[in-house]
Amino acid sequence: MTLRSGHISDLKNIVEIENQVYKKPYWSVKMFERLLIDNSNESIWVYEKGSSIFGFIIDLRFDDEINILNIAIDKSHQKRGHGSNMLLDYLRIIPEKSTIFLEVNENNNNAISIYKKHCFKKINKRKSYYKDGSDAIIMKLVK
Ligand SMILES: CC(C)(COP(=O)(O)OP(=O)(O)OC[C@H]1O[C@@H](n2cnc3c(N)ncnc32)[C@H](O)[C@@H]1OP(=O)(O)O)[C@@H](O)C(=O)NCCC(=O)NCCS
Repeated sequence: MTLRSGHISDLKNIVEIENQVYKKPYWSVKMFERLLIDNSNESIWVYEKGSSIFGFIIDLRFDDEINILNIAIDKSHQKRGHGSNMLLDYLRIIPEKSTIFLEVNENNNNAISIYKKHCFKKINKRKSYYKDGSDAIIMKLVK
Protein backbone atom coordinates (compact mmCIF):
# COMPACT_ATOMS: atom_id res chain seq x y z
CA MET A 1 0.00 0.00 0.00
CA THR A 2 1.25 3.47 -0.88
CA LEU A 3 0.03 6.96 -0.02
CA ARG A 4 0.67 9.47 -2.78
CA SER A 5 -0.54 12.84 -3.94
CA GLY A 6 -3.77 12.61 -5.98
CA HIS A 7 -3.88 13.20 -9.76
CA ILE A 8 -6.79 14.27 -11.93
CA SER A 9 -6.81 10.69 -13.33
CA ASP A 10 -7.90 9.52 -9.83
CA LEU A 11 -11.10 11.60 -9.95
CA LYS A 12 -13.50 8.77 -10.86
CA ASN A 13 -12.22 6.43 -8.14
CA ILE A 14 -12.24 9.15 -5.49
CA VAL A 15 -15.81 10.23 -6.31
CA GLU A 16 -16.95 6.59 -6.21
CA ILE A 17 -15.53 6.13 -2.70
CA GLU A 18 -17.01 9.43 -1.46
CA ASN A 19 -20.46 8.49 -2.77
CA GLN A 20 -20.21 4.99 -1.32
CA VAL A 21 -19.23 5.94 2.22
CA TYR A 22 -21.42 9.01 2.85
CA LYS A 23 -25.24 9.05 2.67
CA LYS A 24 -25.08 12.76 1.85
CA PRO A 25 -21.63 13.42 0.38
CA TYR A 26 -20.31 16.92 1.07
CA TRP A 27 -17.61 16.81 -1.64
CA SER A 28 -19.02 17.15 -5.16
CA VAL A 29 -17.30 16.15 -8.41
CA LYS A 30 -16.53 19.84 -9.06
CA MET A 31 -14.94 20.24 -5.62
CA PHE A 32 -12.75 17.17 -6.14
CA GLU A 33 -11.82 18.39 -9.61
CA ARG A 34 -10.70 21.75 -8.24
CA LEU A 35 -8.74 20.04 -5.49
CA LEU A 36 -6.94 17.82 -7.99
CA ILE A 37 -6.13 20.61 -10.45
CA ASP A 38 -5.52 23.72 -8.37
CA ASN A 39 -2.32 24.39 -6.53
CA SER A 40 -3.94 25.60 -3.33
CA ASN A 41 -3.35 24.78 0.34
CA GLU A 42 -5.92 21.97 0.13
CA SER A 43 -4.57 18.61 -1.02
CA ILE A 44 -5.77 15.08 -1.56
CA TRP A 45 -3.72 11.96 -0.84
CA VAL A 46 -4.73 8.60 -2.26
CA TYR A 47 -4.04 5.20 -0.78
CA GLU A 48 -3.40 2.59 -3.43
CA LYS A 49 -2.16 -0.88 -4.16
CA GLY A 50 -1.18 -1.52 -7.76
CA SER A 51 -3.73 0.44 -9.76
CA SER A 52 -6.53 0.15 -7.16
CA ILE A 53 -7.41 3.06 -4.92
CA PHE A 54 -8.63 2.00 -1.48
CA GLY A 55 -9.06 5.39 0.16
CA PHE A 56 -8.04 9.01 0.47
CA ILE A 57 -7.30 11.86 2.86
CA ILE A 58 -7.99 15.54 2.21
CA ASP A 59 -6.08 18.16 4.18
CA LEU A 60 -5.87 21.92 4.45
CA ARG A 61 -2.56 23.46 5.50
CA PHE A 62 -1.55 26.82 6.92
CA ASP A 63 2.17 26.58 7.67
CA ASP A 64 2.47 24.07 10.52
CA GLU A 65 -1.30 23.93 11.16
CA ILE A 66 -3.03 21.10 9.31
CA ASN A 67 -6.73 20.32 9.21
CA ILE A 68 -7.87 16.91 8.05
CA LEU A 69 -11.06 17.64 6.11
CA ASN A 70 -11.98 14.15 4.95
CA ILE A 71 -10.74 10.60 5.32
CA ALA A 72 -12.36 7.59 3.69
CA ILE A 73 -11.76 3.94 2.87
CA ASP A 74 -13.70 2.09 0.18
CA LYS A 75 -16.66 0.41 1.87
CA SER A 76 -15.69 -3.12 0.84
CA HIS A 77 -12.24 -2.69 2.41
CA GLN A 78 -13.23 -1.12 5.73
CA LYS A 79 -12.54 -2.68 9.14
CA ARG A 80 -9.40 -4.45 7.96
CA GLY A 81 -6.90 -1.95 9.29
CA HIS A 82 -6.54 0.08 6.07
CA GLY A 83 -7.90 3.30 7.60
CA SER A 84 -5.47 3.07 10.48
CA ASN A 85 -2.52 2.26 8.20
CA MET A 86 -3.41 5.05 5.77
CA LEU A 87 -3.53 7.56 8.65
CA LEU A 88 -0.17 6.29 9.94
CA ASP A 89 1.43 6.73 6.48
CA TYR A 90 -0.08 10.22 6.29
CA LEU A 91 1.31 11.18 9.71
CA ARG A 92 4.75 10.03 8.54
CA ILE A 93 4.77 12.33 5.49
CA ILE A 94 3.60 15.53 7.11
CA PRO A 95 6.29 17.87 8.45
CA GLU A 96 7.63 17.52 11.99
CA LYS A 97 6.12 19.85 14.61
CA SER A 98 2.84 20.10 12.70
CA THR A 99 -0.36 20.42 14.68
CA ILE A 100 -3.21 18.45 13.16
CA PHE A 101 -6.87 19.13 13.85
CA LEU A 102 -9.97 17.26 12.76
CA GLU A 103 -13.65 17.10 13.57
CA VAL A 104 -15.62 13.89 13.86
CA ASN A 105 -19.22 12.92 14.61
CA GLU A 106 -19.47 11.64 18.20
CA ASN A 107 -21.20 8.50 16.84
CA ASN A 108 -18.51 7.67 14.28
CA ASN A 109 -16.88 4.92 16.35
CA ASN A 110 -14.79 3.58 13.48
CA ALA A 111 -13.16 6.94 12.81
CA ILE A 112 -12.72 7.85 16.49
CA SER A 113 -11.05 4.49 17.04
CA ILE A 114 -8.34 5.13 14.43
CA TYR A 115 -7.76 8.71 15.62
CA LYS A 116 -7.32 7.58 19.24
CA LYS A 117 -5.04 4.77 18.13
CA HIS A 118 -2.74 7.39 16.60
CA CYS A 119 -2.85 9.57 19.75
CA PHE A 120 -5.29 12.29 18.67
CA LYS A 121 -6.80 13.86 21.79
CA LYS A 122 -10.27 15.31 22.19
CA ILE A 123 -9.94 19.06 22.77
CA ASN A 124 -13.47 20.34 22.26
CA LYS A 125 -17.05 19.49 21.45
CA ARG A 126 -19.51 21.35 19.20
CA LYS A 127 -23.00 20.68 20.52
CA SER A 128 -25.63 19.61 17.93
CA TYR A 129 -23.20 20.39 15.13
CA TYR A 130 -24.63 17.91 12.64
CA LYS A 131 -28.09 17.98 11.05
CA ASP A 132 -29.21 14.90 13.01
CA GLY A 133 -28.46 16.76 16.27
CA SER A 134 -25.31 14.83 17.12
CA ASP A 135 -22.23 16.59 18.46
CA ALA A 136 -18.90 17.08 16.71
CA ILE A 137 -15.76 16.17 18.59
CA ILE A 138 -12.68 18.25 17.78
CA MET A 139 -9.43 16.31 18.04
CA LYS A 140 -5.81 17.41 17.91
CA LEU A 141 -2.40 15.83 17.50
CA VAL A 142 0.97 17.53 17.75
CA LYS A 143 3.49 15.61 15.67
C1 LIG B 1 -13.27 5.98 9.25
C2 LIG B 1 -12.72 5.01 8.21
C3 LIG B 1 -11.77 5.75 7.28
C4 LIG B 1 -11.94 3.91 8.96
O1 LIG B 1 -11.41 3.04 7.99
P1 LIG B 1 -11.26 1.47 8.28
O2 LIG B 1 -10.42 0.91 7.20
O3 LIG B 1 -12.57 0.86 8.51
O4 LIG B 1 -10.45 1.52 9.66
P2 LIG B 1 -9.65 0.36 10.37
O5 LIG B 1 -10.07 -0.96 9.83
O6 LIG B 1 -8.22 0.72 10.36
O7 LIG B 1 -10.11 0.55 11.87
C5 LIG B 1 -11.40 0.48 12.23
C6 LIG B 1 -11.42 0.51 13.75
O8 LIG B 1 -12.67 0.72 14.22
C7 LIG B 1 -12.97 -0.30 15.16
N1 LIG B 1 -14.42 -0.44 15.14
C8 LIG B 1 -15.18 -0.94 14.18
N2 LIG B 1 -16.49 -0.87 14.54
C9 LIG B 1 -16.51 -0.27 15.76
C10 LIG B 1 -17.55 0.08 16.66
N3 LIG B 1 -18.83 -0.13 16.37
N4 LIG B 1 -17.23 0.64 17.84
C11 LIG B 1 -15.94 0.88 18.16
N5 LIG B 1 -14.91 0.58 17.33
C12 LIG B 1 -15.20 -0.01 16.15
C13 LIG B 1 -12.18 -1.48 14.69
O9 LIG B 1 -12.05 -2.46 15.68
C14 LIG B 1 -10.92 -0.78 14.36
O10 LIG B 1 -10.24 -0.46 15.55
P3 LIG B 1 -8.90 -1.22 15.98
O11 LIG B 1 -7.90 -0.94 14.89
O12 LIG B 1 -8.54 -0.57 17.26
O13 LIG B 1 -9.26 -2.67 16.08
C15 LIG B 1 -13.85 4.32 7.41
O14 LIG B 1 -14.72 3.71 8.33
C16 LIG B 1 -14.64 5.26 6.53
O15 LIG B 1 -14.28 5.50 5.38
N6 LIG B 1 -15.77 5.76 7.04
C17 LIG B 1 -16.66 6.62 6.26
C18 LIG B 1 -16.11 8.00 6.13
C19 LIG B 1 -15.91 8.63 7.49
O16 LIG B 1 -16.76 8.56 8.34
N7 LIG B 1 -14.73 9.29 7.66
C20 LIG B 1 -14.38 9.96 8.88
C21 LIG B 1 -14.81 11.38 8.86
S1 LIG B 1 -14.28 12.20 10.33
